[in-house]
Amino acid sequence: MKRCLQLAQKGFGNVSPNPMVGCVIVHEGKIIGEGYHMAYGEAHAEVNAVNAITDQSLLKESDVYVSLEPCAHYGKTPPCAPMLAEKQVKRIVIGTLDPFPLVAGKGAGILKDAGIAVTTGVLEKECRFINRRFFTFHSKKRPYIILKWAESADGFIGTGEHVQISGLAAQRRLHQWRSEEDAFMVGTNTLMDDNPHLSTRLWQGKNPVRIAVDMQLKSAGKPLNFFNRSQRTLILNGIKTETSRGVEYLKIDNSDPHTMMNTLYLSGIQSVVIEGGAQLLDSFIRLNLFDEIRRFRSKKTELGHGVKAPRIDFVPHKTENLVDDELLTYIK
Ligand SMILES: NC(=O)c1ccc[n+]([C@@H]2O[C@H](COP(=O)([O-])OP(=O)(O)OC[C@H]3O[C@@H](n4cnc5c(N)ncnc54)[C@H](OP(=O)(O)O)[C@@H]3O)[C@@H](O)[C@H]2O)c1
Repeated sequence: MKRCLQLAQKGFGNVSPNPMVGCVIVHEGKIIGEGYHMAYGEAHAEVNAVNAITDQSLLKESDVYVSLEPCAHYGKTPPCAPMLAEKQVKRIVIGTLDPFPLVAGKGAGILKDAGIAVTTGVLEKECRFINRRFFTFHSKKRPYIILKWAESADGFIGTGEHVQISGLAAQRRLHQWRSEEDAFMVGTNTLMDDNPHLSTRLWQGKNPVRIAVDMQLKSAGKPLNFFNRSQRTLILNGIKTETSRGVEYLKIDNSDPHTMMNTLYLSGIQSVVIEGGAQLLDSFIRLNLFDEIRRFRSKKTELGHGVKAPRIDFVPHKTENLVDDELLTYIK
């Protein structure tokens, strides 16, 4: 199952909104096939693992390990549970059942009905953790929420103008996250003062959906990078729902974080990084509405004045040294 998790992880950034899944097929104690879900809409892990086996006659005497319950319904590809049932494999070991209502327990049921021995809940915590975005989206009906900011050595996140607080290693890490998470979001002041791109430039990979909250549409008509059509762009606002010049305007009744996250859920966004500024971050912290915090703390840059970084009193789970900065990570 650990090997399944390693394989599953390889799909990170390419399979959303599908989950990451890894599969290993073992015959007489030896791995004879493995596979993972490589890209959204493409073959599932089980299919890739089965296809990797040269002598298909061995399948009947083989154990199949898979990090997530094999699917039972037709999605973009045919379902995996009936496929494995038809192959009459000896045993199936499932990391965790699927949270998706169309699938939960059904895949395991199909396999059991076909007379195959099924074991579930192996390294379950780890199997759920790698797909925490997917599980949060389906069970809590909101995106997985990551709060991110960079603060100076003296505890400020900005001065009202664009300032560079973090060093290159921290910036690269941030761009890596841009390629991995579905969406990045900023508050009105950050949109107007910093003129962010929220694109992936210092790392290879896709651009995230970028989102700003701008209730009164103060940004209308301004020559901001947000309007350069480089990627899908949403503006949550209090005035209109329409798509214009490549920007999706979504009207919301109020700017309560719960309302905003519900709107993102309905737009199919599974993970969002709240990139500041301080007021937007604080509104999530006050409601305890987040799953993870990623905080860069500069060792060098001092601003002397400006917008104070959010105050939190969690003990970090991990502290990394990134040359000029420290990265402190908290996971709930
Ligand atoms: N270092 C970093 O990581 C980082 C990242 C981003 C920004 N920054 C810095 O942060 C500063 C801006 O921060 P800021 O705190 O002044 O502004 P902000 O959080 O970017 O924007 C706050 C504004 O957003 C609107 N808003 C809508 N919904 C909100 C909600 N649920 N909670 C809070 N605000 C909501 C409000 O404007 P209305 O009243 O007009 O609706 C509010 O005044 C800049 O200096 C920028 O450079 C730093």
